[in-house]
Amino acid sequence: MKKRINLKGRNLLKLSDLSDAEMLYLLDLADSLKRKKKRGVCGNLLAHKNIALIYEKASTRTRSAFTVAAVDEGGSVEFLGQHDIHLGKKESIKDSARVLGRMFDAIQFRGFKQETVEILARYAGIPVWNGLTDDAHPTQALADLMTIREYFNHLKGLKVVYMGDGRNNVCLSLMMGCAKAGVNFVDCTPRALAPAQARLDEVFAVARRNACTVTVEPDPARAVVGAQVIYTDVWVSMGEESKFDERLRLLKPYQVNMDLIRQTGNAGRNGVIFLHCLPAFHNHETELTRTLGALEVTDEVFEAPFSKVFDQAENRMHTIKALMVATLTGRR
Ligand code: CP
Ligand code: NVA
Repeated sequence: MKKRINLKGRNLLKLSDLSDAEMLYLLDLADSLKRKKKRGVCGNLLAHKNIALIYEKASTRTRSAFTVAAVDEGGSVEFLGQHDIHLGKKESIKDSARVLGRMFDAIQFRGFKQETVEILARYAGIPVWNGLTDDAHPTQALADLMTIREYFNHLKGLKVVYMGDGRNNVCLSLMMGCAKAGVNFVDCTPRALAPAQARLDEVFAVARRNACTVTVEPDPARAVVGAQVIYTDVWVSMGEESKFDERLRLLKPYQVNMDLIRQTGNAGRNGVIFLHCLPAFHNHETELTRTLGALEVTDEVFEAPFSKVFDQAENRMHTIKALMVATLTGRR
């Protein structure tokens, strides 16, 4: 008999906190909440729920997604930026967690150390969600999988190739999400940026269970053959700015351009899509790329019809809404 899924009261600190079935349940719930929003139906599933949004790092999508998703379903959010609260400075994380836990119904944390979100979860006594740390970006991976499934109508057996910084938060969460969903995953990255063996061993075990493969492949031409999804992220994550020159040198051969898309063998017949968690350096229009031009993806790929990056960005909101509804109210 199929086990009933009820996520009420649960945290999401990393994707492996969810069973495979629980992760897929959140994707199904996100699909149905998306349909509800498109029909223009206002909800009250999060009525009287107060949510703290703690941010040590900048955000456009994640903050907006949590805010709009909560308000759509009748909830309220309070933004607590790094200069607004005492967290870890004038007050221990443990004490702040216990205070916030007495007032709010849930906490979303974005910041540096994974340990911070873990301490919050240990002491707050309310659901805590990771909105990105140095180690993980689990809500991003939910939106990524939702977007892939929306396009291909299924997940199992597809091939996703991630190009670039192969040990960053986005890559590691996507790798785990693919393994949990039975999607073959290739981490195409130079040896110097390959994930730690312990992270790989954890994900290999999940992939074995779901009859798919996870591999690390430094050669872009070999990696992308047969891919249905080409994914990339910035070469330098927040907090690693001092590594910029080194990363530029290491990752130039990993840029996603039309040649690479053609090498999948799936271009030109709706057989391959491009994804990026965003923000992306694809043109001269940012402070950083004014002189350098495109970095991890060319403008041609970013603006192509097979680029689904804005569907993906929108799906952040639907998946985050599903996470909040499921962990705050239980089964629907
Ligand atoms: N993808 C993502 O997390 O975007 P933000 O940094 O804008 O939240
Ligand atoms: N890897 C990036 C993701 C941003 C959404 C970072 O951590 O800066």
